[in-house]
Amino acid sequence: MTDFDTLFLNANLATFCGEGYGEIRDGALAIANGKIVWLGPRNALPSGWAASTDKIIDAKGGWITPGLIDCHTHLVYGSNRAAEWEMRLEGASYEEIARAGGGIRSTVSATRAADERVLLSQAWSRAQALASEGVTTVEIKSGYGLDTDSEARMLRVARRIGDSGQLAVRTTFLGAHALPAEFAGRADDYIDHLCQHMLPAIAAEGLADAVDAFCETIGFSPAQTERVFQRAQELNLPVKLHAEQLSNQGGAALVARFQGLSADHIEWLDEAGIAAMKRAGTVAVLLPGAFYCLRETKVPPIDALRAAGVPMAVATDHNPGTAPLLSLRLAMNMACTLFRLTPAEALAGATRHAAAALGLNDRGRLEVGLRADLCVWQVERPAELIYQIGGQPLRMRYLEGRQL
Ligand code: NIG
Ligand code: FE
Repeated sequence: MTDFDTLFLNANLATFCGEGYGEIRDGALAIANGKIVWLGPRNALPSGWAASTDKIIDAKGGWITPGLIDCHTHLVYGSNRAAEWEMRLEGASYEEIARAGGGIRSTVSATRAADERVLLSQAWSRAQALASEGVTTVEIKSGYGLDTDSEARMLRVARRIGDSGQLAVRTTFLGAHALPAEFAGRADDYIDHLCQHMLPAIAAEGLADAVDAFCETIGFSPAQTERVFQRAQELNLPVKLHAEQLSNQGGAALVARFQGLSADHIEWLDEAGIAAMKRAGTVAVLLPGAFYCLRETKVPPIDALRAAGVPMAVATDHNPGTAPLLSLRLAMNMACTLFRLTPAEALAGATRHAAAALGLNDRGRLEVGLRADLCVWQVERPAELIYQIGGQPLRMRYLEGRQL
């Protein structure tokens, strides 16, 4: 009996179950109806399976990993901020530019002015760039609209990228990203408005899978962030947070108090935050692309996170300001080079732990019963796909059992 649609042979598997890569050398993996139905060493394959030649794919001694998951991006926005980058190269800081009305707020003006078709075509080509390197699930945040209509437009664009069937999309409402100009000097009023009108409207349309905020001196205070989280909780939406990126605000402990999915950036995270994250099962999302682009020097407390057993994810944080980065492979390379993750940790961070950072239990590992989202790589060892900067080691990409 051959109850499968596709059977990979001559493959090494990095399952991310158990320790390290969770390797199975000379393995086989079978897919049926979009799910993984069997995997293991080739010599344990049920007899007769290897004879169904029309369903067999020869992985040519390469490696199969779960499809990569980019669990933190801002893919939808108008225009770009190359001019601001030039200013920063000449010495202006990210905070100075933000305080002078540039930064996030300049992208807000461009995003509000852009029509939905333009936003979609630009975001679509960014999503394709990520997918071409093995991403099968991407999280996309709003946060450059900052009014109900523009935020909804961004999230609809994000959903349409998912409707393409080329990669799965999870959306996050980030209305508390920056203070829009029309609320200048009235941050609490904006948070009231967000809680009373924006978030309920977004939730009613089913546009958000989670809620995020930017808790920072140039963003929102912990008290304001907490009000957003309370409202999200009332609407049954899980929360995550841009926390301790530029300073220690206690954001990680705050998001953990709400059983948050993740605390992201966390360069300034302290022991109390780590302990709170561990207790709550909150994932640490590392964003080395933003660290690199901002020329930060304070590295997230990797050793302490590792010692505490807090799962660490790695994402691109693609955005026009602090990380115009469209390569999750390069983000993993940076996580190793700049933050000293091991390659196995970095890859687990873009698969298994990235799934957890999105609250998804049906992907991110190679395991019977999970979605058949996978990548076949022409590499001799998994580290090679992080070690090499550029190039194209990806041979095949599968989303729910369909080759793309
Ligand atoms: O994740 N920290 C806040 N949000 C983004 C930056 C957004 C922007 O500068 O446009 C980030 O780094
Ligand atoms: Fe971000």
